Amino acid sequence: MNQIIEVQSVSKSFGGVQANQDISLSVKEGIITGLIGPNGSGKTTLFNSIVGQHPIDNGNILFQGKEISKLRVGEIARLGLLRTFQQTRIYNKMNCVDNMEISVSHRGRRFGSMFSSRKGEILDRAEELLDFVGLYSKRFLISGDLSFGQQKLLEFAMALMNDPKVLLLDEPTAGINPTLINGLIDRLKRANEEMGVTLFVIEHNMRVVMNLASHVFCLAHGKLLAGGPPSEIQNDQKVIDAYLGAH
Ligand SMILES: Nc1ncnc2c1ncn2[C@@H]1O[C@H](COP(=O)(O)OP(=O)(O)OP(=O)(O)O)[C@@H](O)[C@H]1O
Ligand SMILES: [Mg+2]
Repeated sequence: MNQIIEVQSVSKSFGGVQANQDISLSVKEGIITGLIGPNGSGKTTLFNSIVGQHPIDNGNILFQGKEISKLRVGEIARLGLLRTFQQTRIYNKMNCVDNMEISVSHRGRRFGSMFSSRKGEILDRAEELLDFVGLYSKRFLISGDLSFGQQKLLEFAMALMNDPKVLLLDEPTAGINPTLINGLIDRLKRANEEMGVTLFVIEHNMRVVMNLASHVFCLAHGKLLAGGPPSEIQNDQKVIDAYLGAH
C-alpha cells in the first residue's frame, strides 16, 4: 500500500517551545491512522504543519510523493488534503446547507466555484452528506443553534463536500455524547470504506482509536514515541508510561 503522507524529520518550535522535534512518520493510503499523546505533546501542531497552516523549521512533508511543506493552505487543500479543527470552524449565522455550499467555494476540488452551473448538483450533494451525518432534518437550522456535537458533524460533512483524498480530523469525538460516539465511529469508517477517504485522526478516547484505526502513532513531549497496530501500541510500555497509564 502507498504512503500518501510522509513526514520526514519535521521540527517546529514556537519561541522556546519545541512543539515537534524531528518527527518522521507516514500515513498509508486508504486506511484510518490514529494519532495519540498527552495534552501539549504536539499533535495539533503536526496537523497544522501538514496542511500548511504554518511554515516548519526543518524537514520535509510529502503528499503523494510531492513535497508540500512550502505550499500554502489553499494550495494543499486543492491537492485534496483537508483538515477539521479542534475548535469547530463553521459559519454560525448561516444554516447548514449554506455552510455546506460555502465550504465548496472556499476549498473546491470536486465542484470548482459554487457559482458554476453545477449549483443544483452542489445542493444535492450537500443534502446527501447532511443525511449521511444525521443532520438532514436540521439542514435549514442556523448552525450556531446546533449542539456542539452536531456542529462537529456539520464540519465533518463540510469537509466531505470537497471529496478529499485525505482528511485530518482533530479530536472528532471530543464533546460528543458517549451514546452518539458509536454512530460517529460508524460514519468515519463509512467515509473511509465507501468514499475512499484516507483518515488521520487525533483522538483522546482510547476506545475510539483502538476501534477505528488500523495503525496508531503516539507523540510525547513533541517527539514520536511509538507507531504500530493498536494492539501493539496498547501494550507498548513507553506509551503506557507516557500516556495510557494516566488514562
Ligand atoms: N501558535 C502557538 N504559539 C505558541 N505555542 C504554541 C502554539 N501552538 C502550539 N503551541 C505549543 O506547542 C505545544 C504543542 O501544542 P499542540 O497544540 O500541538 O498539542 P496537542 O498535542 O494538540 O495538545 P491537546 O491534546 O491539548 O490538543 C504546546 O506546548 C503548546 O502550548
Ligand atoms: Mg490538539
